[in-house]
Amino acid sequence: MSKVVLQNVSKRFGDVEAVRDTNLEIRDGEFVVLVGPSGCGKTTTLRMIAGLEETTGGHIRFDDQDVTKLPPKARDIAMVFQSYALYPHMTVAKNMAFGLKLKGMPKPDIDRAVKRAAELLNITELLGRKPRELSGGQRQRVAMGRAIVRDPRAFLFDEPLSNLDAALRAQMRVEIKKLHQTLKTTVIYVTHDQIEAMTLADRIVVMNGGEIAQIGDPMSLYLKPTSKFVAGFIGSPKMNFMPCRLVEANGGLALSLADGVQLAVPEQRQQAYRPYLDKPVELGMRAEHLTENEPSRPTSQTFEVTVDVVEPTGAEALIFFSLNGHEFAARGDPYGARRPGQPIRLTAEMDHMHLIDLETDRVVPV
Ligand SMILES: Nc1ncnc2c1ncn2[C@@H]1O[C@H](COP(=O)(O)OP(=O)(O)OP(=O)(O)O)[C@@H](O)[C@H]1O
Ligand SMILES: [Mg+2]
Repeated sequence: MSKVVLQNVSKRFGDVEAVRDTNLEIRDGEFVVLVGPSGCGKTTTLRMIAGLEETTGGHIRFDDQDVTKLPPKARDIAMVFQSYALYPHMTVAKNMAFGLKLKGMPKPDIDRAVKRAAELLNITELLGRKPRELSGGQRQRVAMGRAIVRDPRAFLFDEPLSNLDAALRAQMRVEIKKLHQTLKTTVIYVTHDQIEAMTLADRIVVMNGGEIAQIGDPMSLYLKPTSKFVAGFIGSPKMNFMPCRLVEANGGLALSLADGVQLAVPEQRQQAYRPYLDKPVELGMRAEHLTENEPSRPTSQTFEVTVDVVEPTGAEALIFFSLNGHEFAARGDPYGARRPGQPIRLTAEMDHMHLIDLETDRVVPV
């Protein structure tokens, strides 16, 4: 197990700056998820940590050892990819043992390591099969088994679940989490699925365009995004962004969303927001903070909209409405009887609002 430190790490492919001046410290035993849109540099970062890609700048350290120039073999790291790359002519047991054999580990030790990993992953009864006799989920387990037997300093995962269907992905997610709780090995896990990031990570690193946009534990990223990018990337359904104007009203500040829709800004936020009077801003608010509930706090604000579409999902319903030609989602009661075209009254929990400065795309800190 190791601490993994990236210090001013960058990677250039010709004109493309895939990773720019990245600093990141991953604690020993921590489960860190790198998440971000396609092309933001996740795989490149992982490959540099593994030694499969040279850095063009900066240093990578495992504990106190500088590994920047070390070849992959000497780094003692195990990587699991999206394509499992199992040897088709070898049994599961041999696939798992192969790396250890190459390292010259004595046979009894290999057998013990394979047996233990197979038990951990619940694949003992598959040890005699060939990869083509396995389902996608089982192959994925074997690929993880091959990583586990090596007892590496860290596991690197690159979208290991993206070839699986939704149900299996959810199941494997829980198993990976359990496995980490048992093995306590440092994990660096890449995905573009923000739900996977939220559910697995001790800390999430959100990347955008080769740079780190924000680092934090899942709930603090969810509750306190520092930029419009992170606010919109983390959370499902996506956060609503409402174009608006910040105005003076009734001796305080309010957000003017549309004709006749004005929401008072909570007292304790006014000082931070005042510099944005008449500047280009947006209101960011999650669907769960726009509901049909009765106002419950002094800061709650209500307004009327017309229902466009209702999407019941079982436990809740999403109610879509538009204001000034933009579509927004509110969260409602799945048993409610509203129909498209009906007016409804929504309550906005203004304590959960985010004010976005459109000149910088930053969330204004409060
Ligand atoms: N070998 C390469 N040669 C040239 N450009 C590359 C190479 N590998 C990656 N890139 C570029 O570097 C950038 C980052 O790529 P990377 O594979 O790290 O993205 P990613 O975040 O893993 O994306 P995805 O979610 O699609 O896997 C992209 O613009 C990509 O086109
Ligand atoms: Mg990738």
